[in-house]
Amino acid sequence: MRIWSLDRLISPVVAAFILALGLLVAPAWAQNTTANAPAAQAVSEQQLLDELGKIQGRITIPDQKAATLQQPQGRDYQSFQRSTLPWVGAVAIIGMLLAIALFFFIRGRVRTQAGESRQKILRFNALERLMHWTTATAFIVLAITGLNLIFGRRLVLPLIGPEAFSTWSSWSKYAHHFVSWAFMLGVLVMLVVWVWYNLPDRYDANWIKSAGGLLDKSNRTHPPAGRFNTGQKLVFWSVVLGGISLSVSGIYMLFPFAFTDINGMQTAQYVHAIIGVLMVAVIIAHIYIGTLGMEGAYEAMGSGTVDLNWAKEHHSAWVEEQQEKVGGRTPPHTAAEPAE
Ligand code: HEM
Repeated sequence: MRIWSLDRLISPVVAAFILALGLLVAPAWAQNTTANAPAAQAVSEQQLLDELGKIQGRITIPDQKAATLQQPQGRDYQSFQRSTLPWVGAVAIIGMLLAIALFFFIRGRVRTQAGESRQKILRFNALERLMHWTTATAFIVLAITGLNLIFGRRLVLPLIGPEAFSTWSSWSKYAHHFVSWAFMLGVLVMLVVWVWYNLPDRYDANWIKSAGGLLDKSNRTHPPAGRFNTGQKLVFWSVVLGGISLSVSGIYMLFPFAFTDINGMQTAQYVHAIIGVLMVAVIIAHIYIGTLGMEGAYEAMGSGTVDLNWAKEHHSAWVEEQQEKVGGRTPPHTAAEPAE
């Protein structure tokens, strides 16, 4: 008589084997399924966020901010930084470049209709030029290094590779932090030195009505303007108000949490980034009109003097004021150019 049949012996052995295998494989399988389905984890995080508002822990270091691991505003900011901001930036900058290209093809270069007079008039003194170029150089450095934060990973990283990109990005961060002080100083000095000439005056309404004569292809419309025309006043106020917003939000970021909490920090970042890209677009237009777009304009900031005919066409009221100051004679600092 066989007490242990093969069938009877096999079943407990097989059962024990399957159990042991199950114990070994189940945890690994469970881990694998979560790793392969990150959504499962995300859903639970989302539930925590929905229910608690924040994902927080308990910490023993004095900095209690570190106890918050995630909060909904952080995710909003992340999506703004990764998708909204690059879109706003691209639309503003590419849109402006396209608008300038269109303007150039339709209108061409704005030329001095009366030609050169060979007489020069001082438009910006040395202090004004120093102030302009300090602010301008600082802004260009800030613009390039700031745009690297928005577009660098997409546009620069694939071109130069991760190592060079990481070196460039850390240097560009230092440059952004240190050069910002020169920009802030420049904007303040600009405000003090030029504010008087940028207040609204009696020429503005007419200048706006005729769009500064810029759309007149025959180049005959030259609405009178004081030292700065309405278009330039808009550039001035964009630089001053935009510059002040960038400076205040920038100082919040240079000294994180010194003046505000996490929500304030995020607001500062939104303001800084949006104003920054809009200002880049405005300055691209300014650089165009100060160089390629208008004959004779660059000299004003280059040597400081402009041709008298240029000044009469673009800033007739200012030239008259200068002449009145000296009793109708040649304005001060005016010099005839030596004949060739
Ligand atoms: C390569 C870059 C730049 C060039 C070639 C340039 C050129 C000029 C020129 C020629 C003028 C005098 C226009 C006139 O005679 O009426 C001027 C004025 C001015 N610039 Fe610039 N500029 C540059 C960059 C900047 C930057 C980056 C800023 C500020 C962030 C700036 C702010 C101003 C302001 C506020 C004025 C006075 C208002 C006006 O004329 O529009 N410039 N610039």
